[in-house]
Amino acid sequence: MSTPRILFVCLGNICRSPLAEAAFRAAAEEAGLEAEADSAGTGDYHIGKPPDPRSVDTAAARGIDISHYRARQIEAEDFRRFTHIFAHDRANLADIRAVAPGDATAHIGLLMDIVPGREGAAVADPYYGGEENFADTWEDVSAAAKALVARLTATAG
Ligand code: 4NP
Repeated sequence: MSTPRILFVCLGNICRSPLAEAAFRAAAEEAGLEAEADSAGTGDYHIGKPPDPRSVDTAAARGIDISHYRARQIEAEDFRRFTHIFAHDRANLADIRAVAPGDATAHIGLLMDIVPGREGAAVADPYYGGEENFADTWEDVSAAAKALVARLTATAG
């Protein structure tokens, strides 16, 4: 199998998807899995901005620096360049599908569908929440990251 190239997509690319990208990078590194990862938003509100300070703090508390990440909006080329594109909730999934070009090759799915027992669940948007909501986001995206790495490792080679 060629190197998996994973794109994590949320609405703003400042809260959830940067944490999903960071959790996946950490899980892949720990497992010795060669993979590429990036994140993007469906919206254009935060293009060029660093992650929300609460996401930066949440990752930093787990030893991961995401302060250099910069938000970008998903674009047509992403659907050909990445092997997998993961959405954080159903509205997000619908928004991604709505902008997919006809020649998209990426597998598009809901992130929590990878986690046994959490199929169909949303990674709740913590933007209007508090610190505890960001901790919940981290728990969700790191469970998904580990499950994804396990799945990709099982099918690699
Ligand atoms: P994210 O969170 O989609 O997890 O990055 C949000 C960030 C910003 C907004 C909404 C959600 N916003 O409306 O600006």
